[in-house]
Amino acid sequence: MSESNRRKFLQRAGIFSATTFLASLTQPAWSRNLDSAIKNAESISPDELASEEDFWYYIQQSFTVSPSLINLNNGGVSPAPKTVQDAMKRYYDYCNEAPSYYMWRILDQGREPLRKNLAKLAGCSPEEIAINRNSSEGLETIIFGLQLKAGDEVVATLQDYPNMINAYKQREMRDGIKMKWISLELPSEDEEYMVRQFVNAFTSKTKVVHITHVINWNGQILPVKKIAQEAHKRGIEVVVDGAHSFAHFDFKIPELDADYFAASLHKWLYAPIGSGLLYVRKEKIKNIYPLFATSENPLKDDIRKFENLGTRPMFIEQAIGKAIEFHEMIGSERKEKRLHYLKNYWMEKVKDIPKVKLNTSMNPKYGCAIGNVLVEGRKPGELDSFLLDKYKVHTVGIVWENINGVRVTPNVYTTTKNLDVLVEGITAFVKS
Ligand SMILES: Cc1ncc(COP(=O)(O)O)c(C=O)c1O
Repeated sequence: MSESNRRKFLQRAGIFSATTFLASLTQPAWSRNLDSAIKNAESISPDELASEEDFWYYIQQSFTVSPSLINLNNGGVSPAPKTVQDAMKRYYDYCNEAPSYYMWRILDQGREPLRKNLAKLAGCSPEEIAINRNSSEGLETIIFGLQLKAGDEVVATLQDYPNMINAYKQREMRDGIKMKWISLELPSEDEEYMVRQFVNAFTSKTKVVHITHVINWNGQILPVKKIAQEAHKRGIEVVVDGAHSFAHFDFKIPELDADYFAASLHKWLYAPIGSGLLYVRKEKIKNIYPLFATSENPLKDDIRKFENLGTRPMFIEQAIGKAIEFHEMIGSERKEKRLHYLKNYWMEKVKDIPKVKLNTSMNPKYGCAIGNVLVEGRKPGELDSFLLDKYKVHTVGIVWENINGVRVTPNVYTTTKNLDVLVEGITAFVKS
């Protein structure tokens, strides 16, 4: 953003203007400033806005994150904005006034509107969305619900998430299905290579392919649609692990051509911890057995059959609605551009330091917020501890299959000043 545009942005965002005076009587300062920042952002392209620190500073003020710890492990789970936290606590308080009444007669009425709002965000029909607690639950519902028999083959990668790997191994042990594990050399910007690894593993016995949309270890985005199309040509069903992709970057679930897709909403949607969604393509619902048995026919064609969890924290579920509002306030494209900008900001600054190896692509097609860095000759855990002990920067050391490095995941509340501290820490570590 040019200096004159920047001044205009700040002037228009003026916190003491007469028009904001009335609002000031009822709204806290951070929220008033955010309102004007959002209005002013409308005239700026998402690309330009990505580096507008003042705007993102107001976004930061909607969170309650600690100023004394720089949290760069948002890949694990994200904090929720204050509006989401407040809604969850408010609903919890209602529930405790008379749980069976407020949960089952009042809050539960919010389930169908929430399904609609989630479906709108996902770009599919509400009849294809089940609301649950996390990606593990969504994916295991599918992995255990698929009608596979002994000898049927499933293709998946060694870089998939451990819960999913374990679920398939359990089916292998129990039902005699056969797993075909492939190993990907990452990072990769070679779409052909990635698609070929999957296709080469397909045989006439392959019934299912499991694809992780964003590999959590290093942030690699896989070409899901291309792999899914190859699978469908061969009559193979497609399960997509969207734990890290949903609400992280801008896409709609049906564009992926997946049959099944699950996400954790406590990651990139910033919903309360313990919230998730499962998408099942409409015509596939009737083939899947739910993990928790349902009344009447378990093979009925109703997505709600996957929500038979028993008593659950409805205050968490209902606060998802507030997270959708927050997400829409920022806007998918702006969020994606900012997250990508932050990842490349620190990577650009460390990439030429001797011994520093980046394990993540800087191309937006193959990576977004998540980055992974290795200092050659040193263990990832050493850098992780160094950053925490000396700089109060929280990251996570990754040693998994062929991926070694420290994973760094900024978020919309991360500032470039925070990332400068990270860069200083990595530079000092290399010299230590
Ligand atoms: C790729 C991937 N899949 C699945 C999961 C499981 O998510 P949850 O613990 O929310 O069920 C994670 C969690 O980090 C993940 O990164």
